[in-house]
Amino acid sequence: MLSNKTVVVGVTGGIAAYKAAEVVSRLKKLGAQVHCIMTEGAQAFLTPLTLRTLSGNPVMTDMFKEPVKWNVEHVAIADLADFFLIAPATANIIGKIASGIADDFLTTAVMATKGKVILAPAMNVNMYNNPIVQSNIQKLKQLGYFFIGPDEGNLACGYSGKGRMKEPEEIVDFLLRLEKKDLSGKNILITAGPTREPIDPVRYITNRSSGKMGYALAQCAQRRGARVTLVSGPTNLDKPQGVDFISVETAEQMFNVVKELFEKHDIIIKSAAVADYRPQSYSSLKIKKSETDMQIKLERNPDILSFLGKNKGNRILVGFAAETNDLKENAQKKLLNKNVDLIVANDVTAQGAGFESDTNKVTLYFKDGAEKDIPLLTKEKIADIILDEVLMLNNKE
Ligand code: CTP
Repeated sequence: MLSNKTVVVGVTGGIAAYKAAEVVSRLKKLGAQVHCIMTEGAQAFLTPLTLRTLSGNPVMTDMFKEPVKWNVEHVAIADLADFFLIAPATANIIGKIASGIADDFLTTAVMATKGKVILAPAMNVNMYNNPIVQSNIQKLKQLGYFFIGPDEGNLACGYSGKGRMKEPEEIVDFLLRLEKKDLSGKNILITAGPTREPIDPVRYITNRSSGKMGYALAQCAQRRGARVTLVSGPTNLDKPQGVDFISVETAEQMFNVVKELFEKHDIIIKSAAVADYRPQSYSSLKIKKSETDMQIKLERNPDILSFLGKNKGNRILVGFAAETNDLKENAQKKLLNKNVDLIVANDVTAQGAGFESDTNKVTLYFKDGAEKDIPLLTKEKIADIILDEVLMLNNKE
């Protein structure tokens, strides 16, 4: 719930502005006080009257207009905000905030706020991928601004790609998650991504893991107040904000880092897709082809999860099982053999689930024999559900 919280919603000029109405309506239903600010561009897509009716408060549209019913000073709206949400956030507003420009009501208020600022970008895919926009986003992330989305999909401009604003429900959920601090005081170690096992200076063995599930877990746990260490194999993802990040390449490197760190943690989540085998020997020179077939002899990597299972003490240990068949049987075998408290199992061949997807569909298997099917959801939502379960296990210990 968001009662006792004030959310300032800034709306900028993009076709997704119409979705801001639903965001405001959902926030109100959760009990939040909502104040809206619209840029001039936003008013071309949505009328202030809509947001005034839904929020129950006057809508700020003009920096210099005499306030009609507004009984707080202009900049004081910034002080009211526990959350300052900008949805949709155009490339223009992102650029202005990143550059410290304050030339209208919205940019002035967002500059003055001490609340958490959340931006939900929406724009054409090529604009979104523009290095200037990307570097503005990176800069703001590093300064503690939160970003949600954008999603991939069909865009109003006729293009298809990344640039669609997150759905109102997800944006509001994101705020609720920022509000929840039920993991404070917990130290959580998370591994993510694939490992890479080198053959020679130009080749390696790896797998399809994107790291998305582990990074979502790290970000959600951090937002819920945990101190998070993320040990990651090579991925193309941005480092989650506010977590201790350790980059590794091989299973052996991951094992060494985990061995060194696990004792300092209360909860360990092993979402990494660790390579079970590595080339027995590494050639420091590039291997040249010959006329005959070639064989690479592989040797076993350490099983990090099994090591943790043997040494976990009363720490909560969560493992993953990526399967293509016999999901339940294989997951339960891993649960038992590796002595973990919870296995998150997914069929990587299922539609909308698996390695590179933004969504996942998992089943949770617990040590006491219980199991829970989680429907197809975003990896962020699944991360939250896993963390809810982990917290319950932790409270039982
Ligand atoms: N795991 C690990 N170290 C390994 C292999 C796997 O820590 N060398 C962990 C993974 O991080 C995951 C769990 O074990 O949490 C299951 O990984 P998975 O690849 O599904 O299973 P494996 O144990 O490798 O078994 P198999 O490949 O036979 O399915």
